[in-house]
Amino acid sequence: MPTVLAITSDKGGVGKSTLAVHLAGALTERGLKAVLIDEDGRVGTSLKWAARATQRGCPLPFPVLSADDVKPKRLTDLDVVLIDTEGRPKRKDLRALATQADLLLIPSGPGTLELDAARGLLDYLDDEVSAARRARVVLTRVPVQGKVGKEASEDLRDSGVTVCNTMIRNFTAYQRAAELATLVREVRDPRTVPAWNDILALSRELI
Ligand SMILES: Nc1ncnc2c1ncn2[C@@H]1O[C@H](COP(=O)(O)OP(=O)(O)OP(=O)(O)O)[C@@H](O)[C@H]1O
Ligand SMILES: [Mg+2]
Repeated sequence: MPTVLAITSDKGGVGKSTLAVHLAGALTERGLKAVLIDEDGRVGTSLKWAARATQRGCPLPFPVLSADDVKPKRLTDLDVVLIDTEGRPKRKDLRALATQADLLLIPSGPGTLELDAARGLLDYLDDEVSAARRARVVLTRVPVQGKVGKEASEDLRDSGVTVCNTMIRNFTAYQRAAELATLVREVRDPRTVPAWNDILALSRELI
């Protein structure tokens, strides 16, 4: 059975879809069979990303499915199923997700408000579905310069939160990748290599 990796957050715009698309790309590059399911029916960033990539003649190297199109039997021979969710999912949907997922990845920027939102979500997962042990925070959009990321990470760890060692740094190359409906490794930008290396390192840490 595949490992189910769900990416969710209580705050919108923290980088879930960017991570979902790129982690699926990194796992595929590593030779694993991955599928991305877009459960964000309202915005559908991952599905749109894939559709635009196909329109441009360079399809993403892994399938992206809408939640309605998933045939559970077809998933059994995969290595990894990634799930991209909407920001602030309904508690009912979050419960279902937490039950399904082997690993819940919660991206958060290093700012106080975002960290508080991540902590609140972890508290809910702990109290209501006993899933906090399967949940990890990954810091995203971390400024390349300075210690903000390191400090946020230490702060979370001090309060007992499991934090990924890899931080996803803030590079405009990710925004270019979204605009061009491709992966950051394909973008012409001086920061392409470090951006892709962050994603590869995170993928190795997770699976
Ligand atoms: N590491 C990063 N560096 C720079 N920009 C980033 C990074 N990660 C994401 N972004 C940008 O931040 C914005 C939000 O990212 P994204 O759509 O992935 O977030 P989201 O959590 O899926 O949002 P939503 O809650 O609306 O689904 C996008 O413009 C994206 O290009
Ligand atoms: Mg999204």
